[in-house]
Parts: sequence; C-alpha cells; structure tokens
Amino acid sequence: MEHLKERIHQLAINNQPQVVAIRRHLHANPELSFEEFNTAKFIAKTLKDLGFTVQEGIANTGSVVLIQGKNPLKKTIALRADIDALPIQEQNNIAYKSKVDGVMHACGHDVHTSSLIGTAMILNSLKDHFEGTVKLIFQPAEEKAPGGAIAMIKEGVLENPAPSIILGQHVYPILPVGKVGFTKGTIMASTDELHITVKGKGGHAASPHLAVDPILIASHLIVALQQIVSRNTDPIKPCVVSICQIKGGDTTNVIPEEVYLAGTLRTISEDWREEAKKRIIHLSQSIAEGMGGQCEVIIKGGYPATYNDPILTGRTIEAARSYLGKDNIEYVDMSMAGEDFAYFAQQIPGCFYLIGVQNNSIGINSFVHTPTFNVDEKVLAIAPGLMAWLTLNELAYNNN
Ligand code: NI
Repeated sequence: MEHLKERIHQLAINNQPQVVAIRRHLHANPELSFEEFNTAKFIAKTLKDLGFTVQEGIANTGSVVLIQGKNPLKKTIALRADIDALPIQEQNNIAYKSKVDGVMHACGHDVHTSSLIGTAMILNSLKDHFEGTVKLIFQPAEEKAPGGAIAMIKEGVLENPAPSIILGQHVYPILPVGKVGFTKGTIMASTDELHITVKGKGGHAASPHLAVDPILIASHLIVALQQIVSRNTDPIKPCVVSICQIKGGDTTNVIPEEVYLAGTLRTISEDWREEAKKRIIHLSQSIAEGMGGQCEVIIKGGYPATYNDPILTGRTIEAARSYLGKDNIEYVDMSMAGEDFAYFAQQIPGCFYLIGVQNNSIGINSFVHTPTFNVDEKVLAIAPGLMAWLTLNELAYNNN
C-alpha cells in the first residue's frame, strides 16, 4: 500500500484543474437546502461522464456511487459530502462568483462535493489495487433541519451494501491550507431551535396595572434562561443557550399582546439535551405564569452531537500523518456548531475531520457563513488524495 501513496499524491495534483473547474461550477450555481435539483443533475452528469453509475434521487436530491475494487463484498466504506448552499449574498469579487442572488456556497460544500468527486477519480484509477467497495454519498440539505442525512438513512443509504465506517470532511478557515484538524470523541454539538411566545395582555402604556406586560416577562425570561448554562449544566460538558431574536411591540405608548423570542440550545450530551429542553420549557412557563402571563415554548429538534469514534479517528490520524507529514496534522477543539454527519456517526463509526483552507498571504481567511468566505483552491490538490489514502487504509484494515 505504501507504494500507492506517491501515486495518489500525483493523481491528486494532476486532477486538480478538473476538480477546481467542478468546484467553480458549483460555486457559481449554488442552491439552497432541499432545492439542489440542478446541483444533483450536475453531480450526476459529471460522475457519469467519468464513467460511474449513479444512483440518483435518494431523499430527492441525494445520490450515491459505488466503486468496487477486487473482492467487492469484503468490506464497504462510506465517504460523505454535503451539496447545499446558504442564503447569503456573496461579496467576493471572483470570476466564479455566485450567479444566484442571495445564495452562496459560504460553507464550502462546493469544496466537499468537488473534493469527493476528485477522490472518486483517484480511487477509480486504483481499482485493481484495493479490495472492497467504496460508497460515495452526496447528501443534500446539511444546512437546514431536519437535514438530508436522516432522510438518506431512512431511504437505506447505509444498506446494500452496508458500510462499516464513514468518513467526512469540512473546510476549516482557521487552519492554513495543507493542514488537517482532528478531534477524537465529540467534535460538534447538538442543535435545537427555541421558539418562545410570551403572551400577556395589551394595554395603554400609561396604565400598566390594567395590562400584563409581555416585554417585562420576556426580559426576565431572557435573564433567567442564562442559568440553564451557569447553574444547571455540568461544567465539564459544554452547553450553550443563546436567545438571538426578540420581537414585540410597535410603538412608544402601547403595551403589546405578545413577544416572540427565538434562539438555540447546543449540548454535547443526549441526556442533558433532553433535560435542558424540559428545564427551558418549565422555567419559561413558570416565569410567565408567575407574572400573570402565559408562555408557549416550541423546541424544534435539530441535529445530535457529532461523535468521532476514537479508535477509527486514531487510525485516521495515523494515516493522515503518513500522507501529509506529521507537521500538518493538528488536534482541534470541539466546537458548538452542528453538523448532520452526526446521524451517520450514530449508526456506524464515523470520523469527521477539518481541512485547512486559509491563506493569509492572499487574503483568504473569512470564516464560514460569511459573505466573503472563500478557500485557497490548493486544498483541491490535497483533500481528494487524502480522502483516497484514508479510504485505502481503512479498506486494508483488518477488523473482521
Ligand atoms: Ni457546512
């Protein structure tokens, strides 16, 4: 296998212009979550032109490709890329700037998708050199709950053949291009949406005693919710409660009927996640009732925490070190962002790693989800080969 490493490096470098062209097409033509119809068509056409058979229409806009080596039934490994974009107006001045008003690949899913196609190209030319099957998963709607991962799993993406592990990657603007970041165990948090409607009784601002002021209730509520984290959460298990939206009232002299609050709950423990939801509901309703009002709390379930199997991740780190050199491997802290790769990693051991895309010398360092996010496209000479190498290592790993 060692002898394939140089060959993979070379293939990745040779294929880079083609992979960059794919990335730029995706970047210029972004589509929102669950609406990736042209994106799905483009992915399928690109893969078919490369000689692959594509299973299309899984969870509407998802697709799957199998690459079979020798002895294809021996083992299957899944690789996943997400394909959707965000409702952001791009502010980069680049030739391949988004052509769609208000929609942008600001989270690098164009990079993940083109990189996975690049990995497919490499693995396809090495088919005689590995045993087993590689399942490539192009997943829609990572950015919007309930997400595309759970829908694809329900439609059987982890069966026939059933992968034993899954790998995924995400661009990471904190790390310079060429470096890759790993976390063993939890890498990202669960994400739940909080929608709180405080109901009072409207009235004249000059006669507050005749009204029930939902603005005052909401104010107490926002402060009280801070104790979920500061007093109720186990300090060694991170949790975030952020109220990010407050809407109520129209003028200076009318107490409104109701106030709407919205925010997010993020945790890393499923047990605490359920307990925190109960506390948020109970606290909100009790405060509102204690002040003479009412409160309706709707918590829309988001993604679970993303857990990197420590043993698989250990092997992945070793393989990445051998491919990129030890100086290019970083251990990164978990973050409270969310990611629906979590659902795959709940079903089978998963490893989700972070790929450096920053290059300060050419001004590429904006964070994901910003209008100026971009990547150093050198990453597309690195990431496809790295994933191919990690895949070959996993296929060769003898665990059954
Ligand atoms: Ni993303």
